[in-house]
Amino acid sequence: MTSPATLTWPEADGPRTARWRSEAAVPPPKRVVVADDRTTADSAYRLASEGTALLWHGDFQNARQLLQAVTRRLERKPRKQGATPLDAFNLHRQTQSQRARTLGMILIPLDADYGIALRRAPDVRQACIEAYGPASGDASVVSLRELLGLIGAHEWRKKGVEIAALGERIHPHYGVFSPVRGEYVDLVARTPLPSLELAFDIGTGTGVLAALLAKRGVRKIVATDQDSRALACARENLARLGYGEQVEIVQADLFPDGRAPLVVCNPPWVPARPASPLEYAVYDPDSRMLLGFLNGLANHLTPDGEGWLIISDFAEHLGLRTREWLLAAIDHAGLSVVGREDIRPRHPKASDQNDPLYVARAAELTSLWRLKAR
Ligand SMILES: C[S@@+](CC[C@H](N)C(=O)[O-])C[C@H]1O[C@@H](n2cnc3c(N)ncnc32)[C@H](O)[C@@H]1O
Repeated sequence: MTSPATLTWPEADGPRTARWRSEAAVPPPKRVVVADDRTTADSAYRLASEGTALLWHGDFQNARQLLQAVTRRLERKPRKQGATPLDAFNLHRQTQSQRARTLGMILIPLDADYGIALRRAPDVRQACIEAYGPASGDASVVSLRELLGLIGAHEWRKKGVEIAALGERIHPHYGVFSPVRGEYVDLVARTPLPSLELAFDIGTGTGVLAALLAKRGVRKIVATDQDSRALACARENLARLGYGEQVEIVQADLFPDGRAPLVVCNPPWVPARPASPLEYAVYDPDSRMLLGFLNGLANHLTPDGEGWLIISDFAEHLGLRTREWLLAAIDHAGLSVVGREDIRPRHPKASDQNDPLYVARAAELTSLWRLKAR
């Protein structure tokens, strides 16, 4: 095992070192200065833009305000407009990653038990345990931005997301794809089931689709994921909903062993490189999961079984993939399309004309493709 990365910074009595935490797999900043309530937003912005991190010693709420002030300064910078949707997408990703780098430069020290020894600091111990696991006994340093993400995730996990089709709430864990945009769940709720005997749910995430199939009366469901956080999250949700016996959760790359009359998959839908490990639920480099699902499907369907591929055409509107490519991939996998259900996304960004990807978002359609082996 490689030892965890560390961060070293100068204190008045000499250099100090602590474990570096970054769920986005960002390397520890090389230049670090100590900052506190006297640090102005302009100097924080300048330092952060140059790649110098600010290790915070002041009031926690002031650090939050400083982060907001730096965010406003970044937002004031004029945005380059892309000539095509693909240009707009690439520029948007570039801007997002530059922003993430700059905003990740305000750092908060965490005690060995995840406590924060700063004035007006919230108690983030439970949020940290949920995201990082039990405290390891080392003091550490994390960006304020990541920490706020952890706090937000902890709130969502507590509160849950209402899933109308399920008549229940699903509680997403940190780093697990959250079904906040629930329209695809409605597609799975309304498409006629080919069988009530058995189904596979490939890449189950929070377990939301497995839960829905269980509610619809499918007697046995085997749900897979590769990600340990997703597996733990799905197990917890299904047990809470009373489907712990009906749904078996297994760690697998795509399919479990055997064949089923229904195999459902909602893969990440943007064929581009994720900027961090947390983006793997949305970004599927080289369409690896999509193609893996299509190419393995015929071997995991019973005769006359159906594969349900749930995928949005957002990537097509961005120019990252064409409809012809998808149809050719289906054909090449020995599958034919026996039906398709479509739904329009309801999420607020689809009507936000200031969003740089507005054109693609406004045209987006999510489909459930019913596939059979030829
Ligand atoms: C877009 S999310 C969908 C989650 C869930 N099915 C839903 O509809 O909310 C895709 C999921 O696939 C999982 N995944 C990615 N590659 C996988 C693979 N090769 N095998 C199994 N699961 C995978 C991810 O961890 C993630 O949970």
